[in-house]
Amino acid sequence: MIKDERWEGVYTMEDSPYLMEVLTELRDRETDSIGFRKGLVKLGRFMGYEIIKTMEFEKRRIETPLEETDGIVVVDRRNVVIITVLRAAVPLMEGLVKVFEHARIGIVSAVRGKAPEFRVEMNYIKIPQIREEDTVIIADPMIATGSTLIEVLREVKRYGSPKRIIVLGVLAAPEGISRIKKEFPEVEIFVTKVDRELNEDGYILPGLGDAGDRTFGSP
Ligand code: URA
Repeated sequence: MIKDERWEGVYTMEDSPYLMEVLTELRDRETDSIGFRKGLVKLGRFMGYEIIKTMEFEKRRIETPLEETDGIVVVDRRNVVIITVLRAAVPLMEGLVKVFEHARIGIVSAVRGKAPEFRVEMNYIKIPQIREEDTVIIADPMIATGSTLIEVLREVKRYGSPKRIIVLGVLAAPEGISRIKKEFPEVEIFVTKVDRELNEDGYILPGLGDAGDRTFGSP
């Protein structure tokens, strides 16, 4: 995990050859839906491990079958709410719950309109109660214009004031990160990489195409 010096609280995975290889598979147009879904599950799981590195833990004295020893418990790992932004975040969430098995899960469906407005319509919102000790992880693979995430973040804030809010994505465009950070400076962002730019249709370049279509094999 590397800090991106352009913003506070933005981290990329460029120091991980494994995660860069998974990203390469996801970017490759020859990767089919099965491979694409598997790649997203892997990213959810291994980026989840990276998030754990940033969580608080407590020392715990335990007994093995042979003797006493010191151990740790990552307390915050037990206080996680995962918000899955439909559609393409479903496999990311599947990977995340392997690491955060106690997580309470929320689902949000948001449809992004066409350029140039990219108006976002939220048509399904189911978010569990959020407590002040919680870390909320919003899983959304593509942080493009940031419009969807800004709507989701506004919604999340109505359900409580958690300890941390993390956005977990595969790729981000600088424009989207800057917009999110302007309205929510405290939100942390974890992505494999920040790509170059958005095209006029709001797609990330070089990107990986439409994450929803590639996950489900249908537009
Ligand atoms: N959503 C996608 O699926 N891909 C992009 O490049 C941007 C938004």
